[in-house]
Amino acid sequence: MNNWSLAQPRIRMAPSVLSADFARLKDEIQRIEAAGAEILHLDVMDGHFVPNISFGVPVIEKLRPISKLFFDTHLMITDPVKYAEPFAKAGSDLLTFHIEVAPDPMAVADHVRSVGVRVGVTLNPGTPVSALRPVIGAVDLVLVMSVWPGFGGQKFIGSSLDKLRDLRTLLRPDQRLEIDGGIARSTIEAAVKAGADTLVAGSAIFGQPDPPAAMADLHRLAQAAL
Ligand code: DX5
Ligand code: ZN
Repeated sequence: MNNWSLAQPRIRMAPSVLSADFARLKDEIQRIEAAGAEILHLDVMDGHFVPNISFGVPVIEKLRPISKLFFDTHLMITDPVKYAEPFAKAGSDLLTFHIEVAPDPMAVADHVRSVGVRVGVTLNPGTPVSALRPVIGAVDLVLVMSVWPGFGGQKFIGSSLDKLRDLRTLLRPDQRLEIDGGIARSTIEAAVKAGADTLVAGSAIFGQPDPPAAMADLHRLAQAAL
């Protein structure tokens, strides 16, 4: 949907709607978009890969016409291949799958690309960076989970910074490095210094009384850490 290049080496915030008011989702999204957001992080949970259920294809389909944001869909689901096409058709711009559910990650990445969207891969806090090696050259984005996936508002896991540093040396300039979980005023600078360029924040943006102001504040801190 969006035509900006993932390769542009700018810091970008990726507000996660998981902490938004779901009864007012359209307003929340349009407000953050008007404030200059470019990416919307959409957390899909199946109650199987993670111990929580969020939303799925029909919600993303309904959001697509009301926003021009880049839809960054984080698939916390056991079977990303089965659902890649429906999530692409619903309007996702990028689908990120978990390496833990992908015994043949190249096949998953190829399939995701074949349905017409960009590809991301992610790893849980307990999974080493080396697990990404078979697929790392084939993705547009690597996402480091800095909390155990399933819930917003958790505490940032500090060892994620080592993963960011390792990954930064392994990625090409046209690949983005995203971090997700516990990003807030107290953690964002360290994440940027360790190499993250795309910063997911749920509770620190949509959980705040003034989400656009919270996003601007985090973005300013992130830029200053470069
Ligand atoms: C966690 C999700 C995150 C979540 C982050 O399972 O993948 O995207 O929304 O929430 P915060 O920013 O509150 O840690
Ligand atoms: Zn996420």
